[in-house]
Amino acid sequence: MTKARIAVVGAGLMGHGIAQVFALAGHDVTITDSAAKNLATVQSRIAANLRDLGDDERAVSRVTPCADLAEAVREADYVVEAVLEDLPLKQKLFSDIERHVRPDTILASNTSVIPITSIMQGLKQRERALGTHWWNPPFLVPLVEVIETQWTAPNVIAWAMVLHQTAGKKPAHVKKDVPGFIGNRLQHALWREAISLVEQGICDAQTVDDVVKASFGRRLPVLGPLENADLVGTDLTLAIHEIVLPAIDSRPEPSPYLKSLVAEKKLGFKTGEGFRKWSPDEQAALRAKVMRFLKSMHDR
Ligand SMILES: NC(=O)c1ccc[n+]([C@@H]2O[C@H](COP(=O)([O-])OP(=O)(O)OC[C@H]3O[C@@H](n4cnc5c(N)ncnc54)[C@H](O)[C@@H]3O)[C@@H](O)[C@H]2O)c1
Repeated sequence: MTKARIAVVGAGLMGHGIAQVFALAGHDVTITDSAAKNLATVQSRIAANLRDLGDDERAVSRVTPCADLAEAVREADYVVEAVLEDLPLKQKLFSDIERHVRPDTILASNTSVIPITSIMQGLKQRERALGTHWWNPPFLVPLVEVIETQWTAPNVIAWAMVLHQTAGKKPAHVKKDVPGFIGNRLQHALWREAISLVEQGICDAQTVDDVVKASFGRRLPVLGPLENADLVGTDLTLAIHEIVLPAIDSRPEPSPYLKSLVAEKKLGFKTGEGFRKWSPDEQAALRAKVMRFLKSMHDR
């Protein structure tokens, strides 16, 4: 793909990592943020990540911080937004962005769960808008879900797929703008049952995590669920579903047990207890373990 001019709006956790990936792929990136301190540190954060990963640190020279939104997006071929998860904020931002960009500039939101259709409905040219859902950290987790709305032009999806593919990511085309897209629907279907097992007293929280990590979790990086279903046979999968599906949790709302944890301020790491108790050392150890593992997968 030829070099593109990319603008990233929001220089937080996701925005700086997205800028890093595109700069490393050779694109020119401007990045803007309403908080001066986040913009002031963006280049040093990217340089530190590049150093840590053994990537070419000179890529940071292709990232230009820019305090003014209009100036940051004016020359862009592609704008990706990664500001706070707030619908009115995102809607207002895209209406501002549209006033400053060319008619053919492609506009994307990195929202986690807000429907792309809701964010982009006020645009004058909705065919240029799509969702691109990255996973944290953007420079270590390969997937980017490329989300089509009812208005998105096919050439916009095709361009975004190539953009992410050639930047070393694994883009997945989501053909309908549904809540949770693909990855989070699958992830939270599993979390619902995980919570339900604890709620019913079938096992404790640590056992749920041990079972996942020591069984199908071992195979997941190389064997997706539908590859697995084909491997064992759709007939066996059907036979299992006849027995298991009526027994597993299908409630269409969050679990009362989860609600009670939140009400009791058992919020997980941030309060030292959630499903389990977490000392500061245990929290740091788990975070470090996840990063070490993601880096080892990245090196392959
Ligand atoms: N954190 C994750 O794991 C993750 C994963 C996928 C998607 N997302 C989504 O990405 C988006 C950003 O999340 P994050 O975790 O990077 O948040 P963050 O809080 O780290 O960063 C958000 C940044 O947006 C800036 N900002 C706020 N209003 C702005 C405005 N009007 N103009 C410019 N900048 C503004 C803030 O100053 C901040 O630097 C959210 O929509 C989030 O749901 C997050």
